[in-house]
Amino acid sequence: LLVFIESKHDNHEVKEEEEEIVLKRSMFPNDFIFGVATSAYQVEGAYLEDGKGLSNWDVFTHVPGNTEGGENGDVADDHYHRYMEDIDKLEYLGVNAYRLSISWSRILPRGRFGDVNPKGVLFYNNIIDNMLLKGIEPFVTMHHFDIPQELEDRYGGWLDPQMQEDFVHFAKICFEKFGDRVKKWITINEPNIYTMFAFMEGTYPPMRCSIPFGNCSAGNSDLEPLIAAHNMLISHAKAVKLYRQQFQPTQGGSVGLAVNAFHFEPYTDDEFSYQAVERSYAFNFAWLFDPLIHGDYPPLMRKYVGNDLPKFSKQEKKLLKGSVDFLGVNHYTTFYAIDCLNSDECTLTENRPVKGFVGITSTRNGILIGDETGIPVFHVVSYGMEKLLNNLSIRYPNTSIYITENGYSPPNYKEGSEMLQDFKRIEYHKAYLVAVAKAMRKGAKVEGYFAWSFMDNYEWGQGYKVTFGLYYVDRNTMKRTPRLSARWYKDFIANTEKSS
Ligand code: NOJ
Repeated sequence: LLVFIESKHDNHEVKEEEEEIVLKRSMFPNDFIFGVATSAYQVEGAYLEDGKGLSNWDVFTHVPGNTEGGENGDVADDHYHRYMEDIDKLEYLGVNAYRLSISWSRILPRGRFGDVNPKGVLFYNNIIDNMLLKGIEPFVTMHHFDIPQELEDRYGGWLDPQMQEDFVHFAKICFEKFGDRVKKWITINEPNIYTMFAFMEGTYPPMRCSIPFGNCSAGNSDLEPLIAAHNMLISHAKAVKLYRQQFQPTQGGSVGLAVNAFHFEPYTDDEFSYQAVERSYAFNFAWLFDPLIHGDYPPLMRKYVGNDLPKFSKQEKKLLKGSVDFLGVNHYTTFYAIDCLNSDECTLTENRPVKGFVGITSTRNGILIGDETGIPVFHVVSYGMEKLLNNLSIRYPNTSIYITENGYSPPNYKEGSEMLQDFKRIEYHKAYLVAVAKAMRKGAKVEGYFAWSFMDNYEWGQGYKVTFGLYYVDRNTMKRTPRLSARWYKDFIANTEKSS
């Protein structure tokens, strides 16, 4: 995500809401969930401790040149040793829930080719038990970008359908070990972003690419992201089938999948731009949500990718249809969708669009994304959240939604205490929460909101200069300090905010 966001931050701007609505806790139902989120590799550290196996990210980040400044998650926030302190901070914030992920290679160091690591299980048991003691509900993601390296070595990870069996094996262990206390599961995080970066740009492991980008010199098929996501979708559906048959009847929880969903605005005010918006939606979130709700890919993807789009068997369609109890929506920003089929607004090189792209290369779907300058920029456009949610509610009626991520990292990294006065972040969360409330008034079934992130952490490939945290983390001492935004969020949740 931050390939777009961070590198072009200079043009950052805040667009004011036209209609001034002051955010209040009372705009949301009493049982609405307010939380914060992290993921295992980004915060835990202890990458080799207590029997953990190597993950694909452990290996990838250790190769010189692969990551910004050579930074990695070896230590990250040292959450593995500091989780009790962190749970105290969650309690201080007064959040109803905390979204965390489980490191697959901590539980299964060798995937399904080895045993369960009891110390890994103990670690998550400790976290879950202590959260529950403080009345904080766990929302647990099983796969948030990291897989055991062994699976990558054996068959290239998600490109291979054998991963389906691996994932179901892992999911079963998660349900068995933690399902008595975890009632909200997210199977996989952002298959759309993960597969684009891992199998199109080559900026995430296993660094396969179909467009020349960074260190990657291309040459692989541009269908790879589609194949990898296909395997992820089927893995999800099989895990959910298992859950519903064997665990849900007694454990009574629910399952979703989290997708990175942008909002798109037409670049020009004509029919072609509106069509580009529709295509962008199709290749961004409907790519995954349509199969999960309706049982197949969006017709627009079929139209543009044709027979190259992987196909679900009859049985797989049946498994997929209705395989989520809620939609997980990670939303950060809005882009312009630029039509490349009928207009000369964008120039395509053979494989590589000159601007941004959605889903797979523009040579396939005829869309680019960008802003006035044609460059994808991370704008703060809160109405995008409202429009996106309204759109999702129409496409997927009566489906519960959790905003599983929404957050802000400042464009220019600054050291030290200056970073504690994060007025922009407060402004961002307030505006986006107002947008959520507005969408809910129009019928969107949003049940919770998670700020990304609880604390600064390791941003995939980009390191520690990307700072989404409500808490600032001092890299030398690991001391966590609440930013103004942490105090604001706490007061907002408790409904004791002095001024808005
Ligand atoms: C999405 C990812 O799920 C998360 O891991 C990442 O840090 C944030 N977006 C910010 O880029």
